[in-house]
Amino acid sequence: MKKIGLFYSFATDKTKRCAKKIEESFNSKKFEVTAVDVNETLTEEQFLEFDNIIAGAATWFDGELPFYWDEFVPAVEGMDLSKKQIAIFGLGDQVTASENFCDAMGILGSLFKERGAKLIGYSGTEGYIFEGSGALDGGKFMGLALDLDNQAKLTDERIKAWVKQLEKEF
Ligand SMILES: Cc1cc2nc3c(=O)[nH]c(=O)nc-3n(C[C@H](O)[C@H](O)[C@H](O)COP(=O)(O)O)c2cc1C
Repeated sequence: MKKIGLFYSFATDKTKRCAKKIEESFNSKKFEVTAVDVNETLTEEQFLEFDNIIAGAATWFDGELPFYWDEFVPAVEGMDLSKKQIAIFGLGDQVTASENFCDAMGILGSLFKERGAKLIGYSGTEGYIFEGSGALDGGKFMGLALDLDNQAKLTDERIKAWVKQLEKEF
């Protein structure tokens, strides 16, 4: 049984809906997924308890992290993540924020990579239309990009395919 920590803000709307779908999509005989709320009470110990991590973040404020992740950034900057595998799912709006699509995924991804984490769950950009994204690394998203504002109908299949990929990569 592999343990995975699923970190997102329980106070969100769309991020929470996607996180729940991700949690339900894992084969429960092989993976134990524990959801952890990202808020002001999140501790370094809670985060470092897991070697396998999924982090979820919507992009806010024209290409920024939501405040609940932003407040945790200083703690991450002091962490050794060299034994961690981290997958990120990001939410964004490729129409109204076409130049900053899912930038928060890139901010978190770069931060985790700088601390030594291995990022997994990269995915292709086919099927998305946007001008620019800070979430790209070598032409791929650093995780899974979800757009419930414009492509809600694609969410379930994107999550299912991504979780299948993660079940192999974790
Ligand atoms: C004020 C505001 C700013 C936003 N800025 C961006 C942005 O820069 N890039 C992007 O891809 N999406 C942006 N979005 C879209 C959100 O990321 C998207 O609607 C997301 O699904 C919200 O998820 P949540 O309900 O979990 O917060 C913005 C939304 C709002 C309301």
